[in-house]
Amino acid sequence: MMHKLLIGLIIIYTSLFSQVTNAQEISIIPKPNTLTIGKGNFNLDSATVIWVESDSNDINDIAQMLQSKLNEAYGIWLPIVTFPHKQKKFIAFVKKPSAATEEAYAIEVAEKSIYLSANASNGLFYGLQSLLQLMPAEVYGKSARNIKSISIPQLTISDAPRFAYRGMHLDVGRHFYPKEDIKKFIDYLALHKFNRFHWHLTEDQGWRIEIKKYPKLTEVGAWRKETVVGTARKEQSLISYDGKKYGGYYTQEEIKEVVAYAQKKKITIIPEIEFPGHMVAALTSYPHLACTSGPFDVRTTWGVSKDVLCPNDSSLAFAQNVLKEVMELFPSEYIHIGGDECPKDRWKECAECQKMIKDKKLKDENGLQAYFIHQLEAYLNANGRKLIGWDEITEGGLSKTSTVMYWRSWGAMKELPLEIAKHGNNIIMTPVSNCYFDYYQSQKPGEPLAWGGDLPVEKVYNFEPVPQGFTPELVPKIIGTQANIWTEYMPTFEQVEYMSLPRMSALSEVAWSEKRNKNYSDFVSRMKLHFQRLDFMGANYARHLLTEK
Ligand code: ACM
Ligand code: ZN
Repeated sequence: MMHKLLIGLIIIYTSLFSQVTNAQEISIIPKPNTLTIGKGNFNLDSATVIWVESDSNDINDIAQMLQSKLNEAYGIWLPIVTFPHKQKKFIAFVKKPSAATEEAYAIEVAEKSIYLSANASNGLFYGLQSLLQLMPAEVYGKSARNIKSISIPQLTISDAPRFAYRGMHLDVGRHFYPKEDIKKFIDYLALHKFNRFHWHLTEDQGWRIEIKKYPKLTEVGAWRKETVVGTARKEQSLISYDGKKYGGYYTQEEIKEVVAYAQKKKITIIPEIEFPGHMVAALTSYPHLACTSGPFDVRTTWGVSKDVLCPNDSSLAFAQNVLKEVMELFPSEYIHIGGDECPKDRWKECAECQKMIKDKKLKDENGLQAYFIHQLEAYLNANGRKLIGWDEITEGGLSKTSTVMYWRSWGAMKELPLEIAKHGNNIIMTPVSNCYFDYYQSQKPGEPLAWGGDLPVEKVYNFEPVPQGFTPELVPKIIGTQANIWTEYMPTFEQVEYMSLPRMSALSEVAWSEKRNKNYSDFVSRMKLHFQRLDFMGANYARHLLTEK
């Protein structure tokens, strides 16, 4: 009896003890550049104040984020002051012009003070993300009302991102997710210090952005009459459809709301409007944009369509009018115009296309595509914006100024980044080999249907965005990296979460952390606490790291 009691007491003691040690565990993702652990803790409680050195709006915004997070999670309301009262504990948000970049930050946690400094609000925002990750995971939830004091380990951190462009893409064409889901996705990006959300807004299977000048794009183009059931990669005769009308789109008001939401979290949304391929939804709405007279149907199955835009003057005017409204909604310097997977079958048979090739003295259909893309770029540039396109924009003649999103990482295409860099263009690395989150994350049975492929977390983690053969002067041409989420097989947002997390966590270290600080087993051990954060955020993440050894 006595024996059992003793064991019971030991269990209670060790579990209490482990709670305390858990609170001290430092598991920041993405891993900071330098972190020096001190002794003891800062105990945050209701006697703590948030000190902002001046009441400039951008610092106040960040301070308020901390204030509301603590209030939401713990019901602790810390006042924001411009001078700390004597003897009070404080968390100070300080602008420090000496920091290296706008995104760099430093944290110093002492017994009675926490200083979070950066030279711009972006850095302060990233500092806040790290500070929250120094707190117990429950700070990401809404239910820790009985806790009155939060211990934060004394330490110093000095941190800055490796790459300026740290992105995540999401295809809302194949499946549509309402704006509340998009905001959740943005929360996950912010948690991991990503700064770009590439919003893939138009597809063969659905046009998802309201364009006032062309209302049919959403009246007609946002809806398909049904959707292929299961995999589309089987013999035509075996394919079946669900018979259910499917669709949806974002109004311009909703887009503005999402853009503003992302801006607060230091995320620029890069809209993608696909030209001249992946446009069947637009052609269904306005058949005169095609080489043939159609009629077309918003696609109900996956894959690449031979029906594409006829790149004539009237289509160019359409594209410019669409982009005009897009630029009014999205302040992003970069606008993505697609450019991928545009078969040339129709152009080869179209008298108008062939006449353009002849009249403009273009070499062939690739030349025609490049001619069209260059005109889109000129239009964007004239409006103070820059063009991003998928790596097919290299075919037929790459302009000197466009930014290339590299994805076709197979065979001879492996050499493409080096050629692009030598040509003088910036590159965003999103290779299929490491960055396609529509690929399976495990080859074991039981995975939900996915596009194919094999991309476990470790392969994402071990991705090196600067390809071999880049000399030091070419390295800056790699401006960053991004993962792409094509959603053919993700009918729900929960499925998007399952495919993104924790691979997004792994990519965040590729994009942010110094190469010398990366270590996969260290990452996996830090993920333990990170999964608890994701639990508090209500994320449906994949559990392979927890269940597979
Ligand atoms: C792509 O995956 N078609 C860019
Ligand atoms: Zn044509």
